[in-house]
Amino acid sequence: MKKLIILLLTILIFSCKQENKKIAVEQNLTLEKDKKESVIVDSAMVVSAKEEASKIGIQILKKGGNAFDAMVATELALAVSFPVAGNIAGGGFMIYRTKEGEIGALDYREKAPIRSSRNMYLDENGDFTSNKSKVGALAVGVPGTIAGIFAVHKKLGSLPIEQIIAPVIALAVNGYLVTEQQAKRITYFKESFLKTNNSESLYTKEYKTGDTIKNIALANTLKRISENGRSEFYQGETGKAMVHFLQSKNGIITMDDLNAYEAEWRTPIVFSYKDLRIISMSPPSSGGICLAQILKFIEPYPIKSYGHNSTKTIQVLTEAERRAYADRSFFLGDPDFIDIPVDELISDRYLKVRMDNFSFDKATSSDSLSYGMIPGFESDETTHYSIVDNFGNAIAVTTTLNAAYGSKLYSNKLGFFFNNEMDDFSSKPGEPNMYGLIGGKANAIEPQKRMLSSMTPTIVEKNGTFWMTLGTPGGSTIITSVLQTILNVYEFDMNMQQAVDAPRFHHQWLPDIIRFEPNSFPKDSLNYLRTKGYQVMENNSIILGKVDGIRILPDGKLEGGADHRGDDTAIGY
Ligand code: DON
Repeated sequence: MKKLIILLLTILIFSCKQENKKIAVEQNLTLEKDKKESVIVDSAMVVSAKEEASKIGIQILKKGGNAFDAMVATELALAVSFPVAGNIAGGGFMIYRTKEGEIGALDYREKAPIRSSRNMYLDENGDFTSNKSKVGALAVGVPGTIAGIFAVHKKLGSLPIEQIIAPVIALAVNGYLVTEQQAKRITYFKESFLKTNNSESLYTKEYKTGDTIKNIALANTLKRISENGRSEFYQGETGKAMVHFLQSKNGIITMDDLNAYEAEWRTPIVFSYKDLRIISMSPPSSGGICLAQILKFIEPYPIKSYGHNSTKTIQVLTEAERRAYADRSFFLGDPDFIDIPVDELISDRYLKVRMDNFSFDKATSSDSLSYGMIPGFESDETTHYSIVDNFGNAIAVTTTLNAAYGSKLYSNKLGFFFNNEMDDFSSKPGEPNMYGLIGGKANAIEPQKRMLSSMTPTIVEKNGTFWMTLGTPGGSTIITSVLQTILNVYEFDMNMQQAVDAPRFHHQWLPDIIRFEPNSFPKDSLNYLRTKGYQVMENNSIILGKVDGIRILPDGKLEGGADHRGDDTAIGY
């Protein structure tokens, strides 16, 4: 009898496994065995979107540099080898935690030019001419990246800047390898580059996988920056050439804009989720506040017992995301221009009330939900890298040109693309930007103002010590991708690689839909959610985020997660 039961159970387990496999194959689910293994090292690690950049970061660490020196090198190496998002004419944010536990945030976000104005993208009928904020010189915000890396180097770096930039110049001279994704992307955008620039360039040539791209113009720009420092970009030959180029394309950035640009040290958003202490980006990014709101909304729900990507978990996260993004669109913008009730927005008292009307029986409709009441208050490319050095310093950096290759405007002389970050402003109330985000007065264009961002470089502590550094590109989906990656490790016991690879979903209040990564969620789950009143979008969903992160294991080793959705690479020693 006992034998018979064991035999029946074995048959049952085997057929379940076969069935799961069949479902996975039919629905093109990524099976565990198809995924990358975590990279585990003893001392230090860099995870970034391109192998060349991770290698250069590690090279700097091996020369005795710290995570901040490696940040400067990795940022510039991405500008050379990952030009779709890596940049010197874009901007970004950095969160850091030193080996002593000191934390901080750097804002090197682009700014609206002095000659910009609230209605600059509206035509004579008051209609939003959306192309102007996306393509060409008018879309360009005053770049912050060079100010950012020099601010980091000045405050926290240890090696001479020439030593840090030297391998990056060599990379530009000797060239980087074109991956399959890069070859496809460059081909895809070729027409747009030609149309925007009216001329051929390094990036209007044909490339195939395995080719090498050498960028001598960029090598020369980097040489001048290495020799002359920050002022080369904001006051020197490079700055003047940039302004001349942008004005010749009907842009409005002047030398006054470059002179006035400063990167700003900000106070990070710090909050707790259970026994984690999370340190994330403050305004002008919405990342930290939204992440804090969502995690605090969901904290009372036992999502571990609901299960990873179960319908109950999806419902709780979706409703939390809906409420956070509704607040984002109303309250958030550049803190140098508007008052943001930061403490209230992430206070337990306020957040508890916001989730009161949630029920598992029925989706809340976004039309019925607006931003919350605060007493007394009136009113497609980025890249992320994480670094941990052998001293114990950790950084999380997300940097961007906004869309893929930014405004598509490319200076042959200088060797780089310009951002189109101006599209992150709310150009007209109620008009969505390229990520479908709706904004209001708080994020309206004003001269010298920074546009609201979703970038969410984040460091997490557990029991008072460093536990994880992570972040991702993905426009409005950045916040929810960072959220799900933290939960995947903390609540659902995944390792770092599994956590970044796991299928993701996203809700952002408006449009009122849940976006799922295609072919990654069981049809039954999606159908169940439909019966509860959720609009589900799967077929045309694009990839949600491309997360890179590092966590420390209980034995002190570092474990990297480099998202399998891209060419991302974890390297360490
Ligand atoms: O700052 C932001 O939120 C956007 N400019 C980020 C753009 C982005 O992530 C595009 N990447 N896929």
